[in-house]
Amino acid sequence: MNAPHKTEFLTDSYGRTIKSLRMSVTDRCNLNCIYCHNEGSTGTTGEMSVETISNIVHVAADFGVNRLKISGGEPLLRKDLEDILVSLPPLKDVSMTTNGVLLQERALSLKNAGLDRVNISLDSLNEGSYRHITKCKDGVFRKVIGGIHAAVDVGLTPVKLNMVLLKDVNESEVEAMLSFVRGFQGEVILQLIQLMDFRDVACYHADVDEIEKELELKAGCVQVRELHHRKKYLIDGAEVEFVRPVDNTEFCANCNRLRVTSDGKLRPCLLVNDGLVDVSHASVKEMPDLFRLAISRRIPYYRKQKEI
Ligand code: 5AD
Repeated sequence: MNAPHKTEFLTDSYGRTIKSLRMSVTDRCNLNCIYCHNEGSTGTTGEMSVETISNIVHVAADFGVNRLKISGGEPLLRKDLEDILVSLPPLKDVSMTTNGVLLQERALSLKNAGLDRVNISLDSLNEGSYRHITKCKDGVFRKVIGGIHAAVDVGLTPVKLNMVLLKDVNESEVEAMLSFVRGFQGEVILQLIQLMDFRDVACYHADVDEIEKELELKAGCVQVRELHHRKKYLIDGAEVEFVRPVDNTEFCANCNRLRVTSDGKLRPCLLVNDGLVDVSHASVKEMPDLFRLAISRRIPYYRKQKEI
């Protein structure tokens, strides 16, 4: 068994078919957020070349994976990100998660290289709080705001703003964030994200039930997205998505993502650090079986009692 047949998909023993690849291209970051999971990394060795990344995505595409999210670390620290984008096979959706600090000057070249859209981390609109959360220097916050505008201007849309809800830090800012989003007339969507415990962050756990209840009351319209059963709210023209991974069996049951670490290992689950499959030195011919091995190791992290 080697190259996938045209009809072969990557389906695990829980019936979950991989549709999306989440590729970390570097562990390096120019911010140091108080809560960051850094894609669960516990130390990687070196970064993949453009060729390795391209090979991995080509093989995934042969298995019917048609979405790619580029992440980090901070992916814009890679000067060859445009080369990476140009090297990819045709896909339905290519997006990137970035902190936006270096986005303003790169937005157009990224769009021209084939990037469809971006998610930008923005946990606060208050410069002081932003500095506290990200441990950045003066002037960085304004660069991020510039990056958001540039992304909208060049059409890296819809731009999603990732806001991790942090108790006593930014939980009171949801309303302000909604007005900011409204200013972009549908081009920007707010994603409210429940904090996950990757570091000692117990003191930052906000009451997400309460925050979601308030949104529900204000919302004119609620939709449920298929992926992860995320809820989507429309509040006076501002679109908001709620991402609640913690203890969420639906979140895991619907997970259709496979992660790749920045040093070229297939990672079956964000929340578990073992079962990694190294593809960094594999040839394109060897890769399909390594993909099949990684898929065989996928177990939903949060699962219903009867599935254990
Ligand atoms: N909990 C929830 N989301 C996190 N992110 C990083 N660390 C965490 C965490 N501990 C997400 C945020 C950020 C993106 C880069 O990763 O959405 O914007």
